[in-house]
Amino acid sequence: MTKVSVSTFKAPKGTYDLTPPDSAVYLAVREAIAAPVRRAGYGYIETPGFEQVELFSRGVGESTDIVTKEMYTLTTRGGDQLALRPEGTASVLRAALEANLHKGGNLPVKLWYSGSYYRYERPQAGRYRHFSQVGAEAIGAEDPALDAELIILAVDAYKSLGLRNFRLLLNSLGDKECRPAYRAALQDFLRGLDLDEDTRRRIDINPLRVLDDKRESVQQQLVGAPMLRDHLCEACKAYHEQVRELLTAAGVAFEDDPKLVRGLDYYTRTTFEFVHDGLGSQSAVGGGGRYDGLSEMIGGPALPSVGWALGVDRTVLALKAEGIELELPAPTQVFAVPLGEEARTKLFGLVTELRRAGVATDFAFGGKGLKNAMKSANRSGARYALVAGERDLADGVVQLKDLESGEQRPVAFDTVVSELLAAQG
Ligand code: HAM
Repeated sequence: MTKVSVSTFKAPKGTYDLTPPDSAVYLAVREAIAAPVRRAGYGYIETPGFEQVELFSRGVGESTDIVTKEMYTLTTRGGDQLALRPEGTASVLRAALEANLHKGGNLPVKLWYSGSYYRYERPQAGRYRHFSQVGAEAIGAEDPALDAELIILAVDAYKSLGLRNFRLLLNSLGDKECRPAYRAALQDFLRGLDLDEDTRRRIDINPLRVLDDKRESVQQQLVGAPMLRDHLCEACKAYHEQVRELLTAAGVAFEDDPKLVRGLDYYTRTTFEFVHDGLGSQSAVGGGGRYDGLSEMIGGPALPSVGWALGVDRTVLALKAEGIELELPAPTQVFAVPLGEEARTKLFGLVTELRRAGVATDFAFGGKGLKNAMKSANRSGARYALVAGERDLADGVVQLKDLESGEQRPVAFDTVVSELLAAQG
């Protein structure tokens, strides 16, 4: 029996590695989400993977699960309290303020990002402790067209991937004018219900989250609860109506969801979530909303803003659920197979030349025999193999084999690059 040796180490709980060929799908999904926002004038931003804990406790909110239960925190040797970023919005806003992007006289500042995020959640299908988001934030403008723009861009991204079975849930969470009175009315209502300890505590710190409780026993009692949409002030109502009209005009279907609260405290007015019906309980493939007060909460000036983040892992799961295979270009177009030492040197030079000319080319490394080398050529997905032995070199040619049709013909050594470039179209 052969002994299989594997590493003693495994990817940490709730995480997974991305390896070829699946990793190519993730890259393509990130690119597909980024393409519409780039076309709409969003510039790329990258921030550190960790920040001061306080940025998130102030920004995301002391009462959220993300801050109280899910942050990976650490104390540095220098005594700083840091947290691996659980989300991107607070960091992006912090970075924009620090770089004074909002002072350039060109608001909104439109930014997009792509990266890893960390939440100490209970792992399950679609819920990981390390996951990946692509996000977009428009900072410093209060304009319903901006909310609509972002939502439309997300819809276009999903559609460009071929996704169909996703729905857009839309709500308004009001603002500092109308939310406090609603909050008090909701607290009065909730205090009259039969709820467990934990949920009762939530009534004091974050009553709106109780509306979001997934348990049937709670939902039954919530029938008749006051709804924020009946308590919105005139300004919030008008704003929301405009967002809805702009979405409708753009042909974007949405469902009004008065119970949509979201798990982050910074939201005001427009909030939305994209859910996919093929994903089971972790159905949110993306979400976002307006956060008009966040800048002030982290020490900046008043900068009304709006944004979203789409989950890359769950978008890939949604593609699987719909049986969608993305058409990805073969990673290798040409595979070179040398027969003998002299051919090896000559073909290796040709491989470099082809790559420099823009043709994705690979080489039979490790001195493989013809049979094994041809197997590698086929596995690589390449359309063409270049095979050359001593006789070919003496004739100044290489054999160009079409791996699809099996046809093979000699091509003069110094025309190979131009022929393959022409074959590529
Ligand atoms: P979020 O709803 O917490 O929003 O996350 C956005 C998306 O990230 C979710 O819809 C989901 O697809 C994905 N996601 C979140 N947690 C996990 C997890 N544990 N495993 C896998 N995927 C996950 C935010 O993060 C806000 N910063 C969005 C935003 C931007 N709001 C305004 N601007």
